[in-house]
Amino acid sequence: MKILVLYSSQTGTTQEIAQFMAQELGKAGHKADLKLCQEAQNPGAYDAIIIGAPVYAGKWKAEAGAFVKNNAEQLKKIPHAYFMVGTSFNGTASPVEMEAILAKERKLSPPVSEGMFMGRLDYSRLNFFQRTICKMMKAPEGDFRDWDAIRNWTLATAELLQK
Ligand SMILES: Cc1cc2nc3c(=O)[nH]c(=O)nc-3n(C[C@H](O)[C@H](O)[C@H](O)COP(=O)(O)O)c2cc1C
Repeated sequence: MKILVLYSSQTGTTQEIAQFMAQELGKAGHKADLKLCQEAQNPGAYDAIIIGAPVYAGKWKAEAGAFVKNNAEQLKKIPHAYFMVGTSFNGTASPVEMEAILAKERKLSPPVSEGMFMGRLDYSRLNFFQRTICKMMKAPEGDFRDWDAIRNWTLATAELLQK
């Protein structure tokens, strides 16, 4: 398949995950193109699309939501999947909170699969405002990405996108 992997990212975590996904799809015999959500052109030229973004303050990063909104009619005809990256997907966020994050997109154009991955929190990559909030909340720094889980989801999703 020719697969478009679209991402949005503020501090590079989701970008690295999307790069890894594109690599894994390539190893599995697909042709994967990697692009920022706001740089995506001609999504109709692809057999399938994966769209991913981090969650900030309970919301999927805006560029990803905007892509789904602006391309909803076309997406309905192309198998696609969504994924989100955050530091609360280790049991901290409730199922209701997690369900709410992609509610709009799910309604606009239902995906074949949704991935939720633990990300990374690096204070040195945040702006002053965000760093202050994270310090106040005592949010723990670290890289919590589980690359095996990301690989497994990517390969299982590729199978679903093919059906
Ligand atoms: C100000 C701020 C708010 C955040 N809010 C959430 C949140 O609501 N839920 C969550 O799971 N993670 C939250 N995070 C963690 C980010 O989603 C995580 O750091 C992610 O890996 C960042 O991805 P990026 O580097 O691609 O931007 C927040 C981080 C910051 C700095």
